[in-house]
Amino acid sequence: MKVDIKYPEQDFYATISGVDVKSISDGDFLELRKVVESCGITVIKDQEVNDEEQIAFSERFGELEISIGTNHKKENNPYLKPQISRISNVNIANDKLIPVDDHKVVFDRGNNWWHTDSSFKEIPAKISILSAREIPEEGGGTEFVDARHALETWNSKPRKYSVEQVKNDITEHSIVYSRMKNTGDIFNDKFKKDMPYVRQRLIRTHPYTKRNAFYAGSHCIHIIGWELEEGRELINEINEWIVNSGEIARHKWSNGEIVLWDNRRVLHRGTGYDESKYRRIMHRTTVAGDKPSYEEEVILH
Ligand code: OGA
Ligand code: MN
Repeated sequence: MKVDIKYPEQDFYATISGVDVKSISDGDFLELRKVVESCGITVIKDQEVNDEEQIAFSERFGELEISIGTNHKKENNPYLKPQISRISNVNIANDKLIPVDDHKVVFDRGNNWWHTDSSFKEIPAKISILSAREIPEEGGGTEFVDARHALETWNSKPRKYSVEQVKNDITEHSIVYSRMKNTGDIFNDKFKKDMPYVRQRLIRTHPYTKRNAFYAGSHCIHIIGWELEEGRELINEINEWIVNSGEIARHKWSNGEIVLWDNRRVLHRGTGYDESKYRRIMHRTTVAGDKPSYEEEVILH
C-alpha cells in the first residue's frame, strides 16, 4: 500500500494506491484507517464496487447511517439499500435523466454549498465514503477545505473572539434552514417536523489526532445564548476562514474512484454540472458517529 500526501504542511488529502477495498487485509485496513483519520481526505483510485461491496468495506469503519434520502420512500424505490445515499440526476428505476426542477435534483444541488455531512442529525457523521459510478463529461467535481487548519491559524488575524473564548459554544444546525436559504423551500411539513434543529459544538477535538477543528458549514444557523446577529456574524467569519485559510483540494473524479472524508475536520461541496445534459451517479455510505457532539469534550492545547 502506497500513500501520497498532496498538502503535507496541512497533512491533508492522501491518495492511496496498491489496495483493493473488496479484499483489503486487516493489516492494510488498519494502515488505511490511520490515513483516513489523520489526513481529512483519502482518495482510492480504480475501485469498481457495487452497493453490497461498498457497504461491506464501509462497515469496517463502524456502523453506517441510514440515509435520510428523499429517494428511499419504499413506494418508489425498492432499488437502494437504506445505507446508500444516491447523489444523482439519473432515475434509478428507468435510468433516465430526472428533470432539473425535480425535488431530487434540487435537493442534491444543495450539496454545492460548503457543508459537513449529517451535521443536522443529533449524532453527526464521522466518515463519508463516496463512490463514483458515472461521472459527467464536464464539471461535477467535489471540493474540500480543512477546518482544522482554519482553527489553528485563526489567530493569525485580529479577531473579536479567540478560540479560547468560544471553545465551549454550542450552535444549532438544520438542513431545512440551509436548503431554504440555498435552494428554496423544498420540504413538506412532515419532513420539517421530522428534522428539528439539533445542537452541535462549534469546536470539536478529533478523537484520533486530538487536534481541534471548527465545526460549522451551511447547516449551521446560530450560536445558542448569543444575540442572533452577533452569532451569525461569527459563524460567517468562521465559514469564510475555513474556505480561505488553507488549500482548497479540488477533486476531479474518475469513474470507479472512492473518496473518503472526515466530516469532523473538513467541509466539502459539489461544484455543479449541467444537470440537463450530463448524467452523474455517485453512491455514498456514511459512518455514523457514536454520540452527540455536545457530549464531547474540547481539549485546547
Ligand atoms: C455528498 C456530497 C458532493 C458531490 O455526497 O455528501 O456532498 O460532489 N457530494 O456529489
Ligand atoms: Mn455532502
